[in-house]
Amino acid sequence: MAEVLPAFVLPSEHRPGQVNSTDGIPVIDLKGWHWEAAEWPQDRSYRESIVRQIGDAAQEWGFFQIVNHGVSQRVLDEVESSAREFFDLDLEEKRKVTRTADNAMGYFDMELTKNVRDWKEVYDYLACERAEIAPKQVFANKWPSNPPEFRDACKNYSAAMEALAFKVLELVVESLGAPAKALNEHFVGGSTRVRLNFYRKCPSPDLVLGVSRHKDGCALTLLAQDEVGGLQVKSKRNDQWVQVKARRDAFAVNIGDLIQVWSNGKYQSIEHRVVVNSTRDRFSCPVFFSPTYATNAAPLPGLVNENHPAKYKPVNWGEYYKMRRDSNFKNLGKPNVQIDNWAIAIDHIVLGHYNKTMPC
Ligand code: OGA
Ligand code: NI
Repeated sequence: MAEVLPAFVLPSEHRPGQVNSTDGIPVIDLKGWHWEAAEWPQDRSYRESIVRQIGDAAQEWGFFQIVNHGVSQRVLDEVESSAREFFDLDLEEKRKVTRTADNAMGYFDMELTKNVRDWKEVYDYLACERAEIAPKQVFANKWPSNPPEFRDACKNYSAAMEALAFKVLELVVESLGAPAKALNEHFVGGSTRVRLNFYRKCPSPDLVLGVSRHKDGCALTLLAQDEVGGLQVKSKRNDQWVQVKARRDAFAVNIGDLIQVWSNGKYQSIEHRVVVNSTRDRFSCPVFFSPTYATNAAPLPGLVNENHPAKYKPVNWGEYYKMRRDSNFKNLGKPNVQIDNWAIAIDHIVLGHYNKTMPC
């Protein structure tokens, strides 16, 4: 068998192994949704049924797929074909738009998750083009000149996906019993980032992962993928890895760390990972729907009372993202920061260790 570089090789307990578990991840059909209208569909019971399905899926799985989502196939096809053309370029050409320590946007092929190198190439961009993450630190898009249609395809994709993400956010928030638009203001001019992921076929797929196990730090992730498959989710029911069925007609949606905090832990951000294979390249493009960097996420007021105290301290999104990103970039020699670091100890039950590093 051909060799892979040692930096990619996982400790044996984290290698992919055999996953037989069938996909029980809910598929929610949004057919009939009034996508063009700003307001809810007239049919109240239909809307309630979608909200219920989303709430159940968010609670039981932290993951679900949506079909009949209203995003045009042309937009999806264009972003995929431009991305494939870009990843096909020579390394030298791609590195003209390399992401740097100061600016997290652009091309990167050396990302670490849990301090091990992922078997993937990525290109990241902000839906809003540029955003100040900290005083004097601006993240700004780095567009390649090749292929020429790349930028427009990416911009059309992020615009369509952000519109959809607002709708999904409203459904999630409503399922928590809060007014549907309660969180929207934080996402206007937000820091949503899109990632184009290219997982090349690998000579030793049993030794590496496309992305090691991790949770997404954002509020919600919406992911389009091709038919190859490889995304796996850690089931809350039995702690087993479950394959997500790769569907071109669906977006996989997952709860991120910020919704975990806003929901006061009712919905959990779930660990997931990506396996690669020896025969086919794989493409996916997650949209990390994120508020402005200035946002402080804290449990929604309606969910906190005497009997249900806040389980999390407020999390400043800009600071949290910056901490997590730094550990993706280089091995800091310690475990990655996790949302449980913000959990509050209640009644002597320590839900997390605030300000201490947690084991991964
Ligand atoms: C990610 C991720 C999954 C996939 O990029 O955070 O989990 O299927 N990607 O590519
Ligand atoms: Ni992820």
